[in-house]
Amino acid sequence: MRIFTALIVGALVIGLGQAVAQPASPGAELLPEGAGREAVLKVCTGCHAAEVIVNRTQKDMAWPDVVQSMVDKGAVATPEEIEQIAAYLEKALPETAEGSTH
Ligand code: HEC
Repeated sequence: MRIFTALIVGALVIGLGQAVAQPASPGAELLPEGAGREAVLKVCTGCHAAEVIVNRTQKDMAWPDVVQSMVDKGAVATPEEIEQIAAYLEKALPETAEGSTH
């Protein structure tokens, strides 16, 4: 009986852990609410965490070009999603001057 209870408790803990860990890619909380956010989380977090997007190092590329370069690398998105994502990122993470601390 004890083992049985332990199994159930264990299964619950694992289940809960997954439910909590699933939706958020590290850094997702840094992306403000807005139209296109869902598309970013869906399309852009398959290869790297959202924090890679938020903390990008090359600031000389406009967001639509960054998105296009990710598509060239293999990101899968519909043309609508690509547009949404580029528009969202331009608004949510505007081009920042060199030396910005974010
Ligand atoms: C097919 C895999 C893949 C997908 C999907 C993907 N990326 Fe990337 N991304 C990469 C790789 C690989 C790198 C690191 C190499 C590089 O910087 O070119 C990267 C790096 C980045 C960087 C960091 C560049 C820098 O200057 O620090 C940003 C920003 C970025 N991705 C944005 C996006 C956005 C926005 C999306 C969704 C449209 C996306 N990525 C989807 C593969 C992907």
